[in-house]
Amino acid sequence: MLKKVFGSAVFGVEATTITVEVNVDKGIGYHLVGLPDNAIKESNYRIAAALQNNGYRIPGKKIIINMSPADLRKEGSAYDLTLAIGILASTSQIKADNLEQYLIMGELSLDGSLQPIKGALPIAVKAREEGFKGFILPKQNAKEAAIVNDLEVYGIENIKQVINFFDKGEALEQTIIDTRKEFEKSLDFPEFDFADVKGQEGIKRCMEIAAAGGHNIILIGPPGAGKTMLAKRLPSILPPMTLHEALETTKIHSVVGRVKDSGLMAQRPFRSPHHTISNVALVGGGSYPQPGEISLSHNGVLFLDELPEFKREVLEVMRQPLEDREVTISRAKFTVTYPSSFMLVASMNPSPGGYFNDPDAPVTSSPAEMQRYLSKISGPLLDRIDIHIEVTPVPFDKLSDDRKGESSVDIRKRVTRARAIQTQRFKASDKVHYNAQMNTKQIRKYCGLDEASKQLLKTAMERLNLSARAYDRILKVSRTIADLEASETVTGTHISEAIQYRSLDRDGWLG
Ligand SMILES: Nc1ncnc2c1ncn2[C@@H]1O[C@H](COP(=O)(O)OP(=O)(O)OP(=O)(O)O)[C@@H](O)[C@H]1O
Ligand SMILES: [Mg+2]
Repeated sequence: MLKKVFGSAVFGVEATTITVEVNVDKGIGYHLVGLPDNAIKESNYRIAAALQNNGYRIPGKKIIINMSPADLRKEGSAYDLTLAIGILASTSQIKADNLEQYLIMGELSLDGSLQPIKGALPIAVKAREEGFKGFILPKQNAKEAAIVNDLEVYGIENIKQVINFFDKGEALEQTIIDTRKEFEKSLDFPEFDFADVKGQEGIKRCMEIAAAGGHNIILIGPPGAGKTMLAKRLPSILPPMTLHEALETTKIHSVVGRVKDSGLMAQRPFRSPHHTISNVALVGGGSYPQPGEISLSHNGVLFLDELPEFKREVLEVMRQPLEDREVTISRAKFTVTYPSSFMLVASMNPSPGGYFNDPDAPVTSSPAEMQRYLSKISGPLLDRIDIHIEVTPVPFDKLSDDRKGESSVDIRKRVTRARAIQTQRFKASDKVHYNAQMNTKQIRKYCGLDEASKQLLKTAMERLNLSARAYDRILKVSRTIADLEASETVTGTHISEAIQYRSLDRDGWLG
């Protein structure tokens, strides 16, 4: 008998429905066709054991399984359950009249229990689009799939439940999530709050500006100054994610199988890869492409702690995606694109030994060592960082002060207001949404200075020996400072503040 079951394959962050036809005939043999990879070819061993341990079997007949579309490569072990149910139905071991209304996926253990799959969210999105009634999948992935409304999602633990559902009409427990409620609930409780950071008012101000204009930022300071602590709190002051953004980000995390318990990710992600990371792990890739850290940071923050320690080549591959806000990976037969719109926060010690110009410091580096250390980060990547700020450790009396600082939720209100002004400003553009993204033409248009401010900037550039690349960045950051005050014009005050945030352009640093 011929039976059809449905599974799904994920490419990039989109799913394609896979039709699995199972035909059973007289004879003997087990043939799987339609570009399955090795993991799928091995599935018959897992399926045989799982069925046997639950009182069913793969009968000694000629079984042909065709997975289509045939030109699409199918990978992984997530089709075990699809195939197993198909085999049971086509050999009439179970009744399955409504099989075609469901999408069925899951990896089987030998006892018939289910292992989680990757990409449950994009699969669910596609299943609803194509009018499936329900999606049967491992319990671990149920919440993530249930974000999709108007699709019955059944998280199961064992193949036996699926068998009884189709064969005996036994009910499965439906996973229901009120997506909007879930989303709104988690917005106001950031995991890391600026209220925990003592002192550091200047740096907090700086991070508020960075968040308000979407400016990439580098924190320079000795060990223990609080750089990591500060960076971790940046997502909490960025404007709340929209539901659309939350879905986009969750999809990417779903593809790598890393959605946490709550299902929908309502908080902006914070990713902090170690400096030994490979190119592929950072930007994505592999023979079966997977998104990298820059895409897992989508709509959030990518923190590169100890920036000069990263291999130069790794930083190079990040340049294009930083510009394009997405990364495209090409293979002989297909191309996938992952979004990667993130804010970059980097940190570095002022010297390889950790200290700079500090007479009490334990290690001092020679000027040549310093130069080598800094040269690793100079150039194109640094060109994309608008704000440089030095972080000095807070003195003990401030650390021991138990008054709380301003909360992230309050800072975020100001950031959100400044962002609203920018949204309005750039509403005609579909590429530019906030100040950091402005091109030269837009900088000229929106950061016009009066004569006095122009003179001030000129003098400062000369006196502090600021490089030419600093010029546009200062103007962009000034625009953001003005937006935080809801000031239509950029004034001298805004300019003078922005000038302070270019430490690395000054003499003695990168020159
Ligand atoms: N302003 C502060 N308020 C409260 N705690 C602080 C502050 N600064 C530092 N700390 C404490 O010091 C610890 C070390 O800070 P953190 O790890 O952020 O420093 P760092 O600059 O990243 O150092 P490293 O260069 O060693 O990575 C923090 O976990 C925190 O407990
Ligand atoms: Mg640190």
